[in-house]
Amino acid sequence: MPYFFGVFVPYVAIAIFLGGFVYRVVQWAKSPVPFSIQTTCGQGKSLEFIKHNRLEAPDTTAEVVARMLLEIFTFRSLFRNTKSEIHDGPKITYESSKWLWLFGIVFHYSFLIVVIRHMRLFLNPVPEVVAFLDWADSMFEIGVPSMYMTTAGLIGGAALLFSRRLVNRHVRYISLVNDYFPLVLIFAIGVTGALMRHFLRDGIDIVAIKQLAVGLVTFSPVINGEIGAIFYIHVFLVATLLVYFPFSKLMHLGGVFLSPTRNMKNNSRAVRHINPWNPDIKPHSYAGYEDEFREFMVDAGIPVEKELPAQKD
Ligand code: HEM
Repeated sequence: MPYFFGVFVPYVAIAIFLGGFVYRVVQWAKSPVPFSIQTTCGQGKSLEFIKHNRLEAPDTTAEVVARMLLEIFTFRSLFRNTKSEIHDGPKITYESSKWLWLFGIVFHYSFLIVVIRHMRLFLNPVPEVVAFLDWADSMFEIGVPSMYMTTAGLIGGAALLFSRRLVNRHVRYISLVNDYFPLVLIFAIGVTGALMRHFLRDGIDIVAIKQLAVGLVTFSPVINGEIGAIFYIHVFLVATLLVYFPFSKLMHLGGVFLSPTRNMKNNSRAVRHINPWNPDIKPHSYAGYEDEFREFMVDAGIPVEKELPAQKD
């Protein structure tokens, strides 16, 4: 079944991934956001003598972009993560908790670098930036072939994030299958990749793999010889991740850019945000109301501000 698992499954998975990803982003982009609903935790722009916090309550596009970039590249809001505990008294305390941020950063950056490094399999010639990352990532030369730091970061990060959900009873209480499954899947992808590189090397034909990978991106896939079962397992797990991706919480990859709580300006003091699909309601003052109903009001004995014109005999 090499062509089924090596060609058909990857193509179907990529198609579902791209189609699903675009569909989700288009749905989000189409959702109306009439009001400025950003989350802020700093002083908004106000009077001259009140110090404006530009990053926490951005007022211009440049400030919004700066806040977004810091969020995306440094997980800034996660850095503020706190944990609450109840002590004797009873007294509640809030303490800084950086572990989640640390595990998160290690996991996400390792994942990104592993994916970029994999481009050496798909591109010929290999771009210099990919070759450099490959060198930098394995510069400690541990083992033959040398181990990449990000392989350890990806597998270790996934294991730590998974353990956190089991060990921390607050998080365990709110964790669902959809929280555990992607971590297990990514862990399994990392482990099968590491097995292929470090432990089951003999059964692997890396030349045939490169030929297949380049063939897949140039729409002329060929499978020359025995590649090794572990490769097909690795690729099948990746295909599963691709299919699962658009319909899961992993879409935060695209969602972070479209989140109105992050990508809007905190300018509701300066700009009036009007809901465009509200019905067009004409203002109706009391004076106008009385003009319309004065006769009936007088008939019913209701006091009016302006008397009816005197009747001519
Ligand atoms: C979500 C995408 C993927 C992830 C997270 C992933 C992860 C990994 C990891 C952690 C390794 C261990 C060595 C290293 O870090 O490079 C590895 C190795 C490997 N992966 Fe992947 N992989 C992915 C996609 C793919 C795909 C689509 C292919 C198909 C060509 C592939 C083929 C390989 C091969 C051939 C190796 C062994 C490389 C070597 O011997 O140096 N991987 N993968």
